[in-house]
Amino acid sequence: MTIETPETLEKYRQAGRILSEVRQAAIARVQKGARMLDVAEAIEADIVAKGGKPAFPVNISIDAEAAHDTPEPEDARVFEDNIVKLDIGVHVDGYIADTAVTVDLSGNPDLVKASEKALEEAIKTVRAGVSTATIGEVIEATIDGMGFKPIYNLTGHGLERYVQHAPPAIPNRRMGQGIVLQASQVIAIEPFATDGDGLVVEGAVAEIFGVSVVRPVRLPWERDMMKAIQAFDGLPFARRWLKGLKRPEKTLDGLIRAGIIHAYPVLVEQAGGMVSQAEHTLIVTEDGCEVTTR
Ligand code: CO
Repeated sequence: MTIETPETLEKYRQAGRILSEVRQAAIARVQKGARMLDVAEAIEADIVAKGGKPAFPVNISIDAEAAHDTPEPEDARVFEDNIVKLDIGVHVDGYIADTAVTVDLSGNPDLVKASEKALEEAIKTVRAGVSTATIGEVIEATIDGMGFKPIYNLTGHGLERYVQHAPPAIPNRRMGQGIVLQASQVIAIEPFATDGDGLVVEGAVAEIFGVSVVRPVRLPWERDMMKAIQAFDGLPFARRWLKGLKRPEKTLDGLIRAGIIHAYPVLVEQAGGMVSQAEHTLIVTEDGCEVTTR
């Protein structure tokens, strides 16, 4: 989708401004001994306090996890010597900003630099008429050049109103053929770097969920849950956001089995490699791009 009106553009910019402030405060919260649950809740509260809404639950993925971890309702985990990826989304009236940053408590500064540098090099290539294949090539070459591998099977993405992962996919690797970007398209570029194999697989745990299809449900507690989920505007939500509902575990499992809800399992580097990530959202222009999440 491309931006059609000045009002839309302003909402994308506002989401980006909120998110860059939230990210700064979030980085400072990630410290050894801090509870992951407290950090996630503080970040999400910060988003609302600044006038936005979370576009998805704050992803706090550690070490070999690349994405899709978020604290469970009674999560007791604290940060230790971890490499911590914070992936945060904000929307204003459905217009989304998406950013990620790696906070390194583990002593892997080069791995962090690899994804950051790949992101900066990728951003430099963006303008109307550029192929997503060019972006992927620059990302892979930059990360290779620093002695790591990109995660080949994760990509950046387009952003549409109330859709956090829309076409086109923005590859983190060389591709035969890409898609040509157009002015006023909104995309997120998100390189991941690893000292493992460069592939993620689905882990056993899922704490983030999405609505596949809205269908009438029969049981009262299912109706209550579907009603609660409506508040998330079709965007992904966390199990911990469903607090206060009756039988939440069983109801969620039942809705998953019925094909109404799907899970986003944690994505883990298959060789157990450490993973870093960097991400910005940007608007493509004729001669470059405007990064909304700086
Ligand atoms: Co993203």
